[in-house]
Amino acid sequence: MNLDKYTKSPLTYMGGKYSLLNFVIPKFPKECVIFIDLFGGSGVVLENYNNSKLYLYNEKDKNIFEIMKWLFKNSYENIISDLNEIQNKYNLLQTLDHENQKKNYLILRNDYNEGNKTPQMLYMLSRCSINNLIRFNSSGGFNTSFGKIGYSKNTIKMIKEFKDKISNKSIGIDNIDYEEYLVYIYDYSKPKDFFIYIDPPYLGTDTEYNKKWLDEDDIKLFNHLDKLNELNCKWALSNVIIHNGIEHKTLNNWIEQNKNKYNVYTKEKEYSPFFTKNQGKSSIEVLITNYKEVE
Ligand SMILES: C[S@@+](CC[C@H](N)C(=O)[O-])C[C@H]1O[C@@H](n2cnc3c(N)ncnc32)[C@H](O)[C@@H]1O
Repeated sequence: MNLDKYTKSPLTYMGGKYSLLNFVIPKFPKECVIFIDLFGGSGVVLENYNNSKLYLYNEKDKNIFEIMKWLFKNSYENIISDLNEIQNKYNLLQTLDHENQKKNYLILRNDYNEGNKTPQMLYMLSRCSINNLIRFNSSGGFNTSFGKIGYSKNTIKMIKEFKDKISNKSIGIDNIDYEEYLVYIYDYSKPKDFFIYIDPPYLGTDTEYNKKWLDEDDIKLFNHLDKLNELNCKWALSNVIIHNGIEHKTLNNWIEQNKNKYNVYTKEKEYSPFFTKNQGKSSIEVLITNYKEVE
């Protein structure tokens, strides 16, 4: 897989599309006026798509949004200075032994949960948590266990590349439910100007945000896509048609009903040989577009 020309988001995120950018971005329009990343997450798609005049990022989750807002709106120098300050205050050093790293992480986690919650602290927690997971308990406390001190040269490189990639882009950011967002699009006089990338939670998959996404949410979303299509607004939808051997029936029915209208591209998911849990159970990623681009 050649991902050389694409760069990662500094926010390592479950469901992030970095490893699929080679599959997704070449099928995006060669030019558009307004690009909307409606379920923006780590922002890695907006970071790597370069063919729009204006870029709009939306994410409903307040915590993820606040981290991305801090990354989008601050200079590289200010971001690094914020992180160095937290690193120094909590002595989060890779040179410490595991027990002391963990002890210092837990002090940061406790201060975050007890005090003034900042996106910088949450980002640092995510760099050090197991699998970079951002997870909260039912009372809203961040509760991911310690993994390793992951504020490293690699983190700094990812932040630099992210800031370089977005430096020439005009970017607007929002923190609303996607349906609220679509109201503005439906009201806009020139829907043809938009290209919307839609990467919703995937039914039946196991990230935190996916647990709240139900079959009826997919049906509602597909109705919106049909409506946007009638308005001649371009969109591309990412999803999975089979996940760990289980078929996504609602999606497949909708694809079948619209097979003459939409274009369907599929890609078998490649599992790491070290990730044994899902070996032998196939997963097929899909990109559906309501326009055709020549690659
Ligand atoms: C599959 S992830 C997107 C990943 C992103 N494309 C990336 O590469 O990082 C789906 C995102 O949609 C967000 N989300 C869930 N429900 C939403 C809603 N109703 N409106 C807007 N965003 C929502 C989740 O918080 C999550 O970040």
